[in-house]
Amino acid sequence: MAEREEIALGATLDTLLKAVRRQLAECRAEDADFEARLLVEHFTGTSRTDAISDPDRPVTRQAVGEIDAALARRRAGEPVYRILGFREFYGLTLKLSPQTLEPRPDTETLVDLALAEARRIVASRGRCRILDLGTGTGAIALALLSMVPEAEAVGVDISEEALATARTNADINGQRERFVALRSNWLTDVDGMFDLIVSNPPYIPTADLETLSREVREHDPRAALDGGADGLDFYRSIAAGAHRHLEGEGAVAVETGYNQKSAVEAIFAKEGYSTVRTARDLGGRDRAMLFMPVRSG
Ligand SMILES: C[S@@+](CC[C@H](N)C(=O)[O-])C[C@H]1O[C@@H](n2cnc3c(N)ncnc32)[C@H](O)[C@@H]1O
Repeated sequence: MAEREEIALGATLDTLLKAVRRQLAECRAEDADFEARLLVEHFTGTSRTDAISDPDRPVTRQAVGEIDAALARRRAGEPVYRILGFREFYGLTLKLSPQTLEPRPDTETLVDLALAEARRIVASRGRCRILDLGTGTGAIALALLSMVPEAEAVGVDISEEALATARTNADINGQRERFVALRSNWLTDVDGMFDLIVSNPPYIPTADLETLSREVREHDPRAALDGGADGLDFYRSIAAGAHRHLEGEGAVAVETGYNQKSAVEAIFAKEGYSTVRTARDLGGRDRAMLFMPVRSG
């Protein structure tokens, strides 16, 4: 960091936090305060409580060096969670890899919606078999498994590397026994029947990919973002194929882009589903929908 402010060696937790916060603000991090805490706590092995109760605690030369290196990556546009290599989602710690989307807080809206349904299914059938299409880090499936001990899940992805990360995440979170990672192009190689199909598919229209922030464009994999010309390709695939894998009384829950609710509703309606519930994210935008097949007769 030659021409920039050096983080003084012999720094304390408090001086380090302040210096890191200042440097993050200079490189326009959205929430410099929060990111500074994440980096300092991770590389010094301390907690928020330590920063408050023991601000004069000295920090090691090694931690300062690691934070310097992390700040260089952050200045080059890498998101803070990519630098850490993991992020928290629904109370779980999930490892990230170059082929996995960084799970977003918005997706917790889908988990909340699916969780209520999973519990309803367990109450009536004593089990819940979940299929997570486009599992990435395993975020949605593993969050549901963590909340519903009777459930088991298959996580599908096109990317082998994403599946390896999802398996690791199942291990880290103690869910190896109840989670299977399967390579498939959506439903093509999926066997068997499920009580609940969940998905956060890629839903950005191809032409809009260039307008995404640099952090997203350069660090989330394109295969996790590109939803085809109108962003809806994969809702069509899922709606068309889900019938063959859904138990009677089963449900499908998907995340959508904030402006895709009616288009996705129409796609599922065309395939014989009715909208049972919808949910909004913390910003009040439509974000998740739950469908069930319309009963005939
Ligand atoms: C928006 S990401 C969602 C990841 C994760 N479920 C989450 O919510 O954080 C979409 C995922 O779909 C996967 N995907 C893309 N095309 C696919 C396909 N043809 N078949 C299966 N999965 C696919 C991507 O690799 C990516 O992991």
